Amino acid sequence: MADGRRLILLGPPNSGKGTQAAILAERLGIPAISTGDMLRAARDAGSELGRKVAGIMATGELVDDDTMKEVVRERLARQDARGGYLLDGYPRTMRQVRDLEEILGNTDGIDCVLLIRVPDEELIRRALERGREDDQEEVVRQRLNVYEEKTEPLIGYYRKLGLLREVDGHRPIEEVTSQLMEALGAESQEGVAS
Ligand code: AP5
Repeated sequence: MADGRRLILLGPPNSGKGTQAAILAERLGIPAISTGDMLRAARDAGSELGRKVAGIMATGELVDDDTMKEVVRERLARQDARGGYLLDGYPRTMRQVRDLEEILGNTDGIDCVLLIRVPDEELIRRALERGREDDQEEVVRQRLNVYEEKTEPLIGYYRKLGLLREVDGHRPIEEVTSQLMEALGAESQEGVAS
């Protein structure tokens, strides 16, 4: 498996992006960059960024695109991101797609977009079981609405670019990992063949 890849993990809230990002990052030897984790760390540390985003995160709405652009620009500039990375939770609006392209300096800076699909009832079941601050049922439903309205359009965009690979996330964790690794293998073989 080639490293040095720039990958995006896409999927609704509680689809397992964070779980799979940690496993794939380890296997591929690249950092998993989770904007959700970064914002929660800022919130818990009480930093200026954290104070700004805490209220928005608690409602299930998205932090504004300009703030996210600076957070991601700064993170991708760090040394450990030079050899590739796995983005978990960014981009999630079409504006963020354009911002990422601008940060990377071109439109073909991403190698593959992995979409994890899971039915809504299972997403809500997982949230209620996990019980994070933003996992109360009405907040989860709001996060799902936001995903449908603002993030789902990215699926068609990346599909048109030929970058999208879809996996069934309603399977045991290790089976989802296998599907993702397979999707990446298929992607790299196509890359070799073309
Ligand atoms: P973020 O942390 O990105 O939340 P999310 O997208 O809603 O994703 P989750 O962390 O809830 O779920 P996940 O898909 O990572 O699943 P996980 O592996 O944890 O963002 C939080 C908030 O920050 C946003 O609402 C927004 O306010 C803000 N934010 C972040 N990025 C932003 C951006 N780019 N722009 C604007 N705002 C932004 O798994 C979930 C649960 O399911 C766990 O308990 C896990 O153990 C379990 N599980 C995982 N896989 C399986 C499986 N296969 N079978 C059964 N259970 C499983």
